[in-house]
Amino acid sequence: MSVDLAIVPVAGLGTRLLPATKSQPKEMLPVGRRPVVQYVVEELARAGVKRILFITGYGKSSIEDFFDINHQLVNHLRQTGKEDQLAELAFERNEVEYAYTRQREQLGLGHAVLIGEPFSGNQPFVCALGDSIIGLHAKSNIVERMIEEYERTKADLVVAFEELDDPREVVHYGIAQPKGAVNGDVFELESLIEKPAVDEAPSRLAVAARYVFSPSIFDELRHTPRGKGGEIQLTDAMRAVMAKGGKGVGIRLPADEPRFDIGNFESYFHAFVDFALADPQFGPGLAESLRKKLQIT
Ligand code: G1P
Repeated sequence: MSVDLAIVPVAGLGTRLLPATKSQPKEMLPVGRRPVVQYVVEELARAGVKRILFITGYGKSSIEDFFDINHQLVNHLRQTGKEDQLAELAFERNEVEYAYTRQREQLGLGHAVLIGEPFSGNQPFVCALGDSIIGLHAKSNIVERMIEEYERTKADLVVAFEELDDPREVVHYGIAQPKGAVNGDVFELESLIEKPAVDEAPSRLAVAARYVFSPSIFDELRHTPRGKGGEIQLTDAMRAVMAKGGKGVGIRLPADEPRFDIGNFESYFHAFVDFALADPQFGPGLAESLRKKLQIT
């Protein structure tokens, strides 16, 4: 794979998940058995990513601890013969190299990605938001497909989209303006708009937390003024790339690879229940107890 770098922004304050996120990052909240960010890294590793830069922030150091090797814990489990539990730590030794840097001011997602410029330099890179999982148990190969499209179409940027069921939800996401009609799951982008009003939205295709960028994104991010919410928006920089003739490609997530957004309680609760129900050991028992509680026969 030619794209083997990823930037994972994890600097957001998680204010929509207080008090759960008061003293721990939202990216460390468990969804089923694992913290959100572990699924994100597994998805990237499977797509061939070898180096990941986390853009962290104040209070996020448990993410660094998580991906480090905890020798004391490993020795303890080994000495007490807890092989099953030891196997749960196998991810500590995957072939990914991790780097961490901090976004010291909350200036938005675009600003967070720009901080990664010295890391990726002249290379294309994946950007994966650390609070979203794609597909049940992150079994999606969307990043791999995005990298393939990036190479095949010689695009400047490739973005994953989910089709929103409820058009009123457009106000929460970056929304695609496709070039012409969308036939099939891969389409060309005309433009994008960050969190439009319902009657201004050009489609119901919402940016779904996965991107592949050529380094041209940095040229725009350096000059992107503050946009929605007073923040430097990644969506605005992408729009500027396309306005200057850069090629944008969208990929729609298939219905069986939904995006799980761990940025607010409603979607977090749904995600947790879906992952817990799919747990091979405890899912069937949970389903049975839910059936009883909900009086479903
Ligand atoms: C960010 C992006 C938005 C995108 C969303 C996906 O918004 O700005 O374009 O649709 O992530 O999760 P945020 O959730 O940080 O407000």
